[in-house]
Amino acid sequence: MGDYTKKTREWLDERFREGVADGRYRSYQPIYGFRKGEFHGRHVRMYARTFGLLRLLNRIEFGSFLDVGGAEGYIAHLVRTLFDVEVVSVDLSAEACLRARQIFGVDAAACDGVALPFADGSFDIVICSEVLEHVECPVHCTLELHRVSARGIILTFQDAVVTEARRRLEMALIDYDQPHVDRNIFTPDDYRVLLGPDVLITPQLCKWDWPKHDRKAHDKSIGDIRRILKRITARDDFGLHSLGMTGTLLKGGTVAAEMRPEGRYSDDELLDAVLEPGVVQAPDFDSEPPVSDRLIERLACLLCKGPLTKPRDGLHCGGCGADWEIARGIPLMFRDGSGCDDAELASRVKHLCGTDETRAERMMALDRTFRYNRPEQCPVKRWVLKRRVQLDKWLISARRLFGL
Ligand SMILES: C[S@@+](CC[C@H](N)C(=O)[O-])C[C@H]1O[C@@H](n2cnc3c(N)ncnc32)[C@H](O)[C@@H]1O
Ligand SMILES: [Zn+2]
Repeated sequence: MGDYTKKTREWLDERFREGVADGRYRSYQPIYGFRKGEFHGRHVRMYARTFGLLRLLNRIEFGSFLDVGGAEGYIAHLVRTLFDVEVVSVDLSAEACLRARQIFGVDAAACDGVALPFADGSFDIVICSEVLEHVECPVHCTLELHRVSARGIILTFQDAVVTEARRRLEMALIDYDQPHVDRNIFTPDDYRVLLGPDVLITPQLCKWDWPKHDRKAHDKSIGDIRRILKRITARDDFGLHSLGMTGTLLKGGTVAAEMRPEGRYSDDELLDAVLEPGVVQAPDFDSEPPVSDRLIERLACLLCKGPLTKPRDGLHCGGCGADWEIARGIPLMFRDGSGCDDAELASRVKHLCGTDETRAERMMALDRTFRYNRPEQCPVKRWVLKRRVQLDKWLISARRLFGL
């Protein structure tokens, strides 16, 4: 694990602990339902993205589901409730995993997305929503998603851009010294490289129809939000009008051929589930639910992929004899090293792309873009970064003033 990931892990643990001591847990996901609990004002975007994910899953046949970077387990919980499938959430933050156990009883393990503690093809569907932009080695993480998924992968990026020029501009303004920063910006073309030419690319929402500022959603009724959500997610073509993109790959064939024409639920039923996740009160944040036997059966050793048992307090690998710690009921599945070995990455990329050498080359180029071609801090950039908060405030005031 590199320094950035270590720092990010600490930062995330703090984030997912916020308010726990005084019983007012400030969640990242809208776990309390619309306008209930600690509301951080970005729920319309998040609802639109989650609704989009559920609409896709609604038309796919699957029996098991893994959420990589699943935070408090809100999406895993919704998927389990609606589709009655086995779900697991993993996250870099053990604290986030503990929240998922305490709030939703979702099986969860802490790990880095670049080294998933599961055997090949362990889950039918694997999603990774709003995570790759934060990781040190997004290409390596994608290879892991391919490895552990049997039927398909769904990736989402809220800050996706349409053109290469825009990517360069955005990347020039990233402060790489910050933890959990949006450090990788993706274009639709990257999706075709990461997930292959058969990927289905859909927008998360249409920004022209998006409420001008998510905070305004505070004043709206649940009926208004439902109408807004339907309106902003009505378009399914990705373009300049889009905010965020979702990529779906189904391994059996093209997405069009593999998806059922009709889902099990109507859009209204899916919206009901998204808007009312059913956690009205914060649960007992001192509780430490034990690791379930189901999760132990699913986990695999990070070193040899062998099966694990739980002889005492930790987990033990029957294959290579490695021991893995469990803290407060959460397996800590981290291995030493950065997890992004260049030679290993090149050979795995080659294996994934097979005869498609162009895709393999582009995948390696993408890896270089994200890991090595980070624009240097120049005086102009330092000036902008230093004043970023102030500049953002000015931008918001200007938008208000001109009604944008
Ligand atoms: C922006 S949140 C998205 C949460 C959730 N997937 C969603 O769509 O609502 C990013 C999540 O990714 C997790 N994360 C960040 N870096 C990670 C990594 N290297 N491996 C696994 N999870 C990571 C964070 O802890 C956080 O829960
Ligand atoms: Zn082992």
